[in-house]
This record gives sequence, structure tokens and C-alpha cells, in this order.
Amino acid sequence: MTSDSASDAAALRNQMVDTILESRAALNRSLSGHVEAVMRKVPRHAFLPGLALKDAYAQDAPVMKRDDDGVVISSVTAPKIMAGMLHQLDIEPGHRVLEIGSGGYNAAMLRELVGPDGEVTTIDIDQDVINRARTCLATAGYADVRALCADGEVGAKEYAPFDRIIVTVDSWDIPPAWVEQLAEDGRLVVPFRVLGLTRSIAFERTRDRLVSGSYELCGFVPMQGAGARGLKVVRLQEKDVYLRVDRKHDFDAESLRAALKQPRVEAWSGVTARRGELMDEQDLWLATVEDEFCILKATQEAIAQGLVHPSWRVATPALVQGGSFAYRAFPRAVDEKQTTFEFGVYAHGPDAEEVANRFAEHLRVWDRDHRQGPGARFEVYPADTPDDHLTQGRVVNKRHTRVTISWP
Ligand SMILES: C[S@@+](CC[C@H](N)C(=O)[O-])C[C@H]1O[C@@H](n2cnc3c(N)ncnc32)[C@H](O)[C@@H]1O
Repeated sequence: MTSDSASDAAALRNQMVDTILESRAALNRSLSGHVEAVMRKVPRHAFLPGLALKDAYAQDAPVMKRDDDGVVISSVTAPKIMAGMLHQLDIEPGHRVLEIGSGGYNAAMLRELVGPDGEVTTIDIDQDVINRARTCLATAGYADVRALCADGEVGAKEYAPFDRIIVTVDSWDIPPAWVEQLAEDGRLVVPFRVLGLTRSIAFERTRDRLVSGSYELCGFVPMQGAGARGLKVVRLQEKDVYLRVDRKHDFDAESLRAALKQPRVEAWSGVTARRGELMDEQDLWLATVEDEFCILKATQEAIAQGLVHPSWRVATPALVQGGSFAYRAFPRAVDEKQTTFEFGVYAHGPDAEEVANRFAEHLRVWDRDHRQGPGARFEVYPADTPDDHLTQGRVVNKRHTRVTISWP
């Protein structure tokens, strides 16, 4: 690299970090000085060979590999998400860290954060990913990161215990190996999928369970191997409108398709938000209180045709009740300058009015009781924990664990 392009890279990197700081500040979130410093230092482009410099420093997650169906199975994590997770990890010099899901970029930042007395092990289920990560790490001067091919489900027992474990792949469960390999006062940061929603959650061990501290919105490629757990899709209209539902649900797709052909019912909640405000907490609340919660997705064409008008076409919270469903409507402006918007609900089907009103009431309760609160608390217990040992709240049973979600 010439000195010109090295300084271009440094400038782009600083711009990338400035954007991250601004977007976190807008959400009232800080970024630790150590994380900021390593993000300004580690050459992200060295882990994205072949990509133009400006693309390497964009706020994207460049795709590294797709499966035979075109689904993304490996990417270099978006810088904003990585920053948040590293902040949550709270690494100290000398820590031993395990990363599950490799690429090299994050492992290099971990290497910087743990310093000369620490140790970083990164594992990936895909040998190609490990080969690429090793090459990029060596080129960028981080050859002392241990990169191994293994299923994250089993961790890396021979190098445990770890002061910190960071998982960079969507995880439906927390396998016993992660808890066993975590040091007594260790911390696990994982993109945990509960009730169909993924949040990067920082867990600490408290007696018999893991208890959440902070959590942040995130999105990751799906877990492969022993911990893989796909989602079900219920198509409401060819490939244009569908519901992403938990595998335990057995919704009547035929009736729901018929429902979409019926005129919609509306219910407006009176709850408002400023333009650009994130609604991830409201989504989590809806998922907690409604068993038949799911996510509605639609193409731009479906919206243009007026089939649906969801709040966000990529992922809008929805509820199903028999042959009826409701989803959060595209918010309507309540002032002339269009700075404040009201949340509402659109529903279809024989029980549309009932589901829409129930949904709108959930929005009001969230606004009144939880919007300004500390948010949800996640606790993860071993699968054999009896009911009377669990914290009160919504209980979600997984393969290895029982998870409670409460709203203090
Ligand atoms: C988003 S990428 C990781 C990005 C990386 N941490 C970085 O520095 O940018 C997710 C990776 O998880 C890997 N993966 C998926 N299932 C896994 C499993 N069961 N065990 C280990 N790695 C897995 C995929 O092969 C993929 O490379």
C-alpha cells in the first residue's frame, strides 16, 4: 500500500468511527475509549481484500460467502454492530477471549484490546473462513491470534477458561460449553434470538444462571452446525408478503392468505414518536406479551400495490389470531412539519377488529409503563430448572436452556 492510500484508509477509518460515535450518541449510547482507539487503528480493509477502500469502510457487512440457495452464511460484521458488541464485552488487558464466528477483523480488534498479556482464540465452522482469516490476520500483523475450525456449539475447551466469549453468529440457544468455558466472573456477549427477535445481549453468571446486562439491536448470519435452528415462513402472497414465525407455531396459512384479500381494519394508538426513533424496545415488548408474535416482511412492490403498508418492510411486528393477523402500520404524521408520528395497526381477517385493538392497547401499555424504563431482563437457566426456580415473566424453553424475560 502506498503512503497515499494508507492515509486515505486512515481518513476513511476515522470517518467510519465518527459516524459510529454520532449514531450511538443519538441513541444515548457511549463507546468506550479503548474500543474507539482500536477501531481507529485496525485496518478493516486488510480483512476485505479485493474491496474498494471506501466500501471497506462503509457501514455495511460485506458478504463473504453464500450457500447454494443464495443465503448469506458469512460476512464481515458491520462496524456499528461490532463497536456495540466490543463495548458490551468490556475487555481488560490480559483477558483470554474466545470469538465464535471468524473473519479476522474482529479478532484483530480483540487482540489489540487484550494487549500483550492476553490471548485471542477465534473459531469458525467453515475451513474456508478460517483459512482466509489466518491469511488476513498474518498480513495485518496479528499472526498470534489462534484461528481454528470447529463448531461453536462445543467452544474451545482446550484453551478455556475465557474471561470473555463473543459470538458473532445468530444464536437460538446457549449451549452448555459456553457457560462451562466462561471464567467465574466472565462475560458472554451473544446475538441471542428469543421470541423471533435477535439482540446482542451481555450476560454475566449469577449463581445457577446467566443474567443480562445491556442489550442492543443487531442482525447476524444464521448459526450452522449442531445449534442451527431455522425459522418458518408463512407466505401471505406469493413471494411478496410473508410472516417469519417461530418453528413452534402452526399457523393456518390458507386462512391468513384469504384474510389478506379482505379490506383492512385500522386502529390508531395515540402513541407517538419522533422521526428516526428506534422501535426495537416496542417490538420486544410485543413479543413478550403475545404468544403468537411474528415478523411481517414485504417487498417494495407489495407496498406499491397497496397490499400492505407496514412500519418497516424488512421487519415489522405482527400478531396472528386464528385466521386473522395484525401488524404495525406505517406511522402517520401528527404535525405539519412531519417530525412526530403516531403508531397504528392494520389488521385483516374475521377477527381483525379484535386483534387490531389488542395490538394498539399493547402499544399504549408499553408507552405508559415501559418506554422510559430499564428495558427487559433476560435470564438463562439450565433446561432442567423447575418452574418454581424461574424468575417470574415470560418463559421460553429451548434445547439447552429455559429463558425468562421480565420487565422490571
Ligand atoms: C458474521 S460472520 C463472523 C464475522 C467476524 N466475526 C468478523 O470479524 O467480521 C459469522 C461466521 O459464523 C460462522 N458460523 C456459523 N455457524 C457456526 C458455528 N456453529 N460455529 C462456528 N462458526 C459458525 C460462519 O461460517 C461465519 O463465517
